[in-house]
Amino acid sequence: MKDKATLEYQGKKFEFPVVEGTEKELAIDIKKLRSTTGMITLDPGYKNTGSCESAITYLDGEKGILRYRGYNIEELAEKADFLEVAYLLIFGELPNKEQLHKFHEDIKHESHVDEEMKKILDAFPKSAHPMGVLSSLTSALIAFNPSSVNITSEKDMYHAIIRIMAKFPVLVAWTMRKQKGLPLDYGDDNLGYVENLHKMMFKRPNKEYVKNKIVIDALDQLLILHADHEQNCSTSTVRITGSSHAGLFVSLSAGISALWGPLHGGANQAVLEMLEAIAADGGDTQKYMNKAKDKNDPFRLMGFGHRVYKNFDPRAKIIKRAADEVLGDLGIEDPILSIAKGLEKVALEDPYFVDRKLYPNVDFYSGIIYRALGIPTEMFTVMFAMGRLPGWIAQWREMRLRGEPIGRPRQVYIGENQRPFVPLNKR
Ligand code: SDX
Repeated sequence: MKDKATLEYQGKKFEFPVVEGTEKELAIDIKKLRSTTGMITLDPGYKNTGSCESAITYLDGEKGILRYRGYNIEELAEKADFLEVAYLLIFGELPNKEQLHKFHEDIKHESHVDEEMKKILDAFPKSAHPMGVLSSLTSALIAFNPSSVNITSEKDMYHAIIRIMAKFPVLVAWTMRKQKGLPLDYGDDNLGYVENLHKMMFKRPNKEYVKNKIVIDALDQLLILHADHEQNCSTSTVRITGSSHAGLFVSLSAGISALWGPLHGGANQAVLEMLEAIAADGGDTQKYMNKAKDKNDPFRLMGFGHRVYKNFDPRAKIIKRAADEVLGDLGIEDPILSIAKGLEKVALEDPYFVDRKLYPNVDFYSGIIYRALGIPTEMFTVMFAMGRLPGWIAQWREMRLRGEPIGRPRQVYIGENQRPFVPLNKR
């Protein structure tokens, strides 16, 4: 504990401990606020409220820093692969060769999904949004893996983690193949984790699957960049769902639903739709900038702004560079990329955006790469969920292992004061 903070109200002084994190962040510990003052805090959207102490991911929004378990995102994106990063986030250390091999072998052993699950998938119309399908399938997994996680048993916890790491890519692939009317494929144990995901997504029934290293490396890096982001909306949803001791799979399903929102993970799909609308509108970026700044217009510049980053989102910088490289390597000329760059340039010089410190976030350029990889726009947020899976697992596991209490915020009531009942014939 660092020292104390004093609150003074109506002539009374109340002291609260100040806690300091390993990166010198300071927080007032208000666990005893209501019992000592009778008051609570009010903070819609929790913009100033820490929900937990966590050792998984560190962000510095002012400096544009992002680290998973102490490793800078720039190094992990360049030097690690997605499965290594998943292991790091969940278990806290980069795996050695044996650990990584065993992790992957254990995952391969669990990569079958019960054929009955296909009946649930069949029940959806082709027009169903893939995020709704994925959330439902993830929740349905519990029916085929009934043993809920006994978190006091490390073996049981490990087995649950392996099961979802193994089955989730299959569900992601099935979700896309359902929409495209393709037969539901299974993985190939001879392939890498991300290569296997790509094969399950794209293999054509009547064609050999041919690996494209550029595509697999780009997908692997995008998944790493989406793998965790401390207490964002969907991760907080996973945590608060799990805090009631609901199971891991259903907590993840809740997180997928929260991620779907266009203010959160759904933004990557909304960015592409916005850029396509601008292209269809003759590339008139200024018109959309004016809409974004008009308080009477609900339109926002999708892919811009962030609750924490008041500087460049470090992931956006990496993805912007990767977009140039991947499209160049694949020989793709996408006018949408030029529109995106033009929009970014105009926004970064506009006082409205500069004053509010609104920079491109992770969602601004990611869709351009997904599109170049042949991923349909409606699947962009599913790819975000695939990347965020290990982060959600790590955060759920940390919350349960730390024995965090059930999440139950208070409120300030602003409704009617007590009043007598009025019989129907008198209303
Ligand atoms: C993700 O939290 C995470 O870590 C999330 C994430 C992760 O990895 O999990 O990083 C992933 O969700 C990235 C964000 C994707 N969403 C979008 O790109 C949607 C567009 N952005 C916004 O809606 C907004 O910036 C949020 C939701 C991201 C953040 O909103 P905040 O922190 O609640 O900020 P705010 O809405 O209070 O905005 C502050 C001001 C307001 O103007 P004023 O009232 O001060 O005049 O900035 C304006 C807002 O109107 N503003 C925007 C804007 N974003 C904020 N104006 C136009 N376009 C925008 N995009």
